[in-house]
Amino acid sequence: MNHPTGISEIFETMEYGPAPETDQPVLEWLARHGGAFGLYVGGRWVPGEDGRGFDVINPATRAKLTRVVQAGAADVSAAVVAARAALPGWAGLSGHARARHLYALARAVQKHSRLLAVLESLDNGKSIRETRDIDIPLVARHFYHHAGWAQLLETEFAGYGPAGVVGQIIPWNFPLLMVAWKVAPALAAGCTIVLKPAEFTPLTALAFAELAHEAGLPPGVLNVITGDGETGKLLVEHPDVDKIAFTGSTEVGRHIRQATAGTGKKLSLELGGKSPFIVFEDADLDSVVEGVVDAIWFNQGQVCCAGSRLLVQEGVAAPLIDKLRARMEKLRVGSPLDKAVDMGAIVAPVQLERIRGLVEKGVEEGAQMWQPSWACPTDGYFYPPTLFTDVAPAATIAQVEIFGPVLVSMTFRTPTEAVALANNTPFGLAASVWTENINLALDIAPKIKAGVVWVNCTNLFDAAAGFGGYRESGFGREGGREGMWEYLKPTWELETTGMRDAGGGMGEAAEVSGATHPASPIPHPDSPLPAIDRTPKLFIGGKQVRPDQAYSRRIVGPPPGGRTVGEVGEGNRKDIRNAVEAAHAAAGWAQATGHLRAQVLYYIAENLAPRQAEFAARIDAMTGGGVDAARREVDAAIARLFTYAAWADKWDGAVHHTPVRGVTLAMNEPIGVVGVACPDDHPLLGFVSLVAPLVATGNTVVVIPSEPAPLSATDLYSVLETSDVPAGVINIVTGATDALAQILAEHLDVDGVWYGGAAGGKAVELASAGNMKRTWVAHRRDWLDPRQGEGREFLRRATQVKNIWIPYGE
Ligand code: NAI
Repeated sequence: MNHPTGISEIFETMEYGPAPETDQPVLEWLARHGGAFGLYVGGRWVPGEDGRGFDVINPATRAKLTRVVQAGAADVSAAVVAARAALPGWAGLSGHARARHLYALARAVQKHSRLLAVLESLDNGKSIRETRDIDIPLVARHFYHHAGWAQLLETEFAGYGPAGVVGQIIPWNFPLLMVAWKVAPALAAGCTIVLKPAEFTPLTALAFAELAHEAGLPPGVLNVITGDGETGKLLVEHPDVDKIAFTGSTEVGRHIRQATAGTGKKLSLELGGKSPFIVFEDADLDSVVEGVVDAIWFNQGQVCCAGSRLLVQEGVAAPLIDKLRARMEKLRVGSPLDKAVDMGAIVAPVQLERIRGLVEKGVEEGAQMWQPSWACPTDGYFYPPTLFTDVAPAATIAQVEIFGPVLVSMTFRTPTEAVALANNTPFGLAASVWTENINLALDIAPKIKAGVVWVNCTNLFDAAAGFGGYRESGFGREGGREGMWEYLKPTWELETTGMRDAGGGMGEAAEVSGATHPASPIPHPDSPLPAIDRTPKLFIGGKQVRPDQAYSRRIVGPPPGGRTVGEVGEGNRKDIRNAVEAAHAAAGWAQATGHLRAQVLYYIAENLAPRQAEFAARIDAMTGGGVDAARREVDAAIARLFTYAAWADKWDGAVHHTPVRGVTLAMNEPIGVVGVACPDDHPLLGFVSLVAPLVATGNTVVVIPSEPAPLSATDLYSVLETSDVPAGVINIVTGATDALAQILAEHLDVDGVWYGGAAGGKAVELASAGNMKRTWVAHRRDWLDPRQGEGREFLRRATQVKNIWIPYGE
């Protein structure tokens, strides 16, 4: 036998020895609990009401770890009751007092970090290296960071209060980290919690409940109930929950959007992804290879923001794929408790089957599949790192979230092509851009529709930076200041509507079609106004256009008398479609400078001001509120335009202090094309209050003016035409509010809908689930009160935050 002599030769030929982490302390901890856990409700451990339960399995060995309760309706209710009872006390504590509790939780996690890391590894199958070095430290960091937000709450979130009782439903891929992401901001904000961990991985959440109990968290503030999707559904549908926060599949997210529609429950959804990993030819390919390892083989690829689509510039595709294969050959899959292992087990057989099925589909569809030469262990649920080349952009494996260690690669030629490929997905969670050219990176990052963009890095997370999606990857952010808003509500809203507005159904939306019976086009003979000699048209793409169907609707003044004050066009589905197209064509508005947008808004105000009397007379004629009130409304509308002109160049993002050597830029980006259904009342001010913040922040809009009083909006056409508003930025379609809003909410090219109509917005929220558009039901407020009718809440709703991570240094 030849013995190696040189050091490099010895290094190359050395075998890995086992480096096992002991599971003994965890097995003892499990044994101390008698092989079964109850539910943690109201500060006590209680059995499930109906005695149902299920086993928790170690996916690396198939061994049973313990048994947990399948919580039923009575259990969910008991947990919600406990959280409700604890709410006044917890919300009433000072921010400082809550900060102390959060600090205690951070300390508790740190003191028991190894137990938690091993328990997580046993329960989920992820490697101890990851749980020990990534998951659990990030959990502690999250509680420390949010202890800070609790401390600063009264000053930094003045005018806001806790959203109330929150139901939190989390997945199995980062079990304890998801507990932290959900629980820490909720506690900091003063909310009380019912948390449901995933059925595959409930154990660290239960351990955390135990730690929280020992750390003195008051009873009922945190309740942990175990169970599967049925339990989650019960929690979502429980009438006494004020907010739902969910992380998981887009499919379930869609159900939750539908189930909460019209209930007034706040909602944040962090859903799936198919994130692009874009490599330009000037990238450092060796770094790229390590980046890919982190992007898709970290946590066995069971990561919502996994870089699962490798997009490579053509010139470097071949060498990169060679390097990747060489690296994959050296990855080690095995016991998660072995510290020298790169990849552990897949969480459950059902997930393993899903991965296998999708890989087979990829092969069937003609892509080239490659796996390392070695075999995976067979005693648990393991799957090898897998690479697909020759993948068509429309192939199943290029579009569907595989949620496993499977990378699909495609090539591109130009940066424009890279962006097009990157955005060729309904998702928008994350992206990673690799190039040594900072100009290129910073040109590409804003063009990608994703909530997080990592430049020359990937899968970096921190409590200070918001995380969350665009498009069908959900909405809302977790982490940082932006994440805190998810658990807060304006105080005036809490005062006027209680913790939650029960909302109401939009009711049966009238079908807008030829079957609509238009009002008579004949003016009322008693009209005091000059004869109506023209019906305002619609305003689409900067032009006044006739409605698709030649029907008009009569606008009648207030009783008594109900005189005709004018007529407007009856918009329909086709008009909305044209307006949406026009709004898309004006997408360049998003790139206009804040300065320019401010100028346009000031100009609208300037052109409106000399026509105050005319607009006031019109408002009075439609509403009968008196000329003085109408004048006040016009003045308020002008002031509001000034407000958003002022904000247009001041709605700054932030630079987050994340623990990387570099910067994390939090940029406020527009939502895109937003539909707006104006409130019935305050026909001018309601319109301006909703449209101005959207336009100020770079969105383009399709607006349905007040249904009973649309003429202030149609009178505005001439103001808009003379105020340099680019064509397509503001489009106006008059007609039946709810029917048109429904069309907007169903339209897959509309990115958001703001509903200020009278019906409560249920139908809009329901229909929005189609493409998970951002909705906001902004009705029932005093539009004249600046506290309710303008400000940061509107700007926040008009934008979504993109966090761009840019490390620096050679
Ligand atoms: P899932 O979305 O069904 O489960 C996530 C959580 O939601 C679990 O706690 C589950 O009990 C709960 N849940 C399920 N149905 C519910 C309902 N109707 N109402 C309320 N809660 C409900 O995800 P699953 O089935 O575990 O994984 C399926 C696929 O989902 C994965 O292959 C992956 O593509 C995706 N996924 C994405 C995650 C992410 O972080 N974005 C996390 C987990 C899964």
